[in-house]
Amino acid sequence: MRLAARAGRITPSPTLSMTAMAKAMAAQGIDVVDFASGEPDFDTPEAVKAAAAAAMRAGFTKYTAPSGIEELKHAIAKKFETDQGLRYDTSQILVSCGAKHTLYNLAEALFEAGDEVLLLSPFWVSYQDQVLLNDAKPVIIQTREDDGYAITRSLLESCVTSRTKAIIVNSPCNPTGTTYDRAMLEAIAEVALRHDLVIISDEIYEKILYDGTQHISIASLGPEVASRTLVVNGVSKAYAMTGWRIGYAAGPKELITAMASIQSQSTSNPSSISQKAAVAALQSDGTFTQQMVAEFDCRRRLMVERLNAIPGIRCRMPSGAFYAFPNVTGVLGRRHGTGAITSPAELANFFLQEARVVVVPGEPFGSCSHIRLSYATSLEAVRRGLDRMEAALKSLR
Ligand SMILES: Cc1ncc(COP(=O)(O)O)c(C=O)c1O
Repeated sequence: MRLAARAGRITPSPTLSMTAMAKAMAAQGIDVVDFASGEPDFDTPEAVKAAAAAAMRAGFTKYTAPSGIEELKHAIAKKFETDQGLRYDTSQILVSCGAKHTLYNLAEALFEAGDEVLLLSPFWVSYQDQVLLNDAKPVIIQTREDDGYAITRSLLESCVTSRTKAIIVNSPCNPTGTTYDRAMLEAIAEVALRHDLVIISDEIYEKILYDGTQHISIASLGPEVASRTLVVNGVSKAYAMTGWRIGYAAGPKELITAMASIQSQSTSNPSSISQKAAVAALQSDGTFTQQMVAEFDCRRRLMVERLNAIPGIRCRMPSGAFYAFPNVTGVLGRRHGTGAITSPAELANFFLQEARVVVVPGEPFGSCSHIRLSYATSLEAVRRGLDRMEAALKSLR
């Protein structure tokens, strides 16, 4: 069978395949520590489940408007106004089957052959593949760990060409946990305005912040910036609702309308029941998320402290999301058995085989120097996993 060329351009999501491997090993009774999962280990709040159950009992189990129900769009518009002072009409909002689906609709609506899309590396794994799927070219902007992965105007300018169509911004960032301050966002906005770029702002981790860090949406920098920005968000991370599959976008009406048409011809509406659940999540008082983030904070501190205590590993303290992204270059080159471990991918495999710990290698995030560990798991698992990684590394020569 001759498949379309685009299918050969992409690879399956490495984070999802590592997570699937961890789950498969656990199902076989293997005592595995999973640092790969990009999802909160907390249960979805009871009030959210109750709203879903009520929706089912009331027969709210049929197709809805393909772009989402008005009630949810109103709740989303209210969230933007309360949190960021941003005002959107419901015609500027699209509800999709998770933020990944939102981004996919966007890529289909916006990118085509000849377009270049700026990605700030390290970046979330799916951006690059979604750009490639739509025949456009990802242009990787390398940020430096030693500068805190900072973005500057000159760095951005050096990557813009006449073909540059858009820039994807992800703050707080998966995988680095970096959050962009106002100055960095202003630099991005200025370059976008000067070169007529669309800004795609993935804010899915906006509520998962530490040490008093405040989230700033780039769209809130002014009406001119907002008019060229698509804000992407969802309920997966903030409300422990990864399985419910509700993401959303807000932005220019023309773009939202095109994305909605694509969705209407592909998936149709996101689950009616999940939409009602998302209304309850967005209308909740925030206590659940605060408690979850306080717990993540303890795990973050422990994981980063333990990683930094391992010779050859150094790890920055993330200010958002729930990932540690340690630099492992000091470990690469060490020998195990007959061969040397020369890459994060080989190191991840070593941890899997020798320590029964699942981590995600840095390569698909654009780094040949890091691995990613999620601390959305119990403190006990953090301790156990780090104990095992440390012991396994001691066996290397
Ligand atoms: C940066 C980022 N954006 C988007 C998503 C997609 O989230 P979902 O499709 O669960 O809403 C994820 C999930 O891991 C992510 O890390």
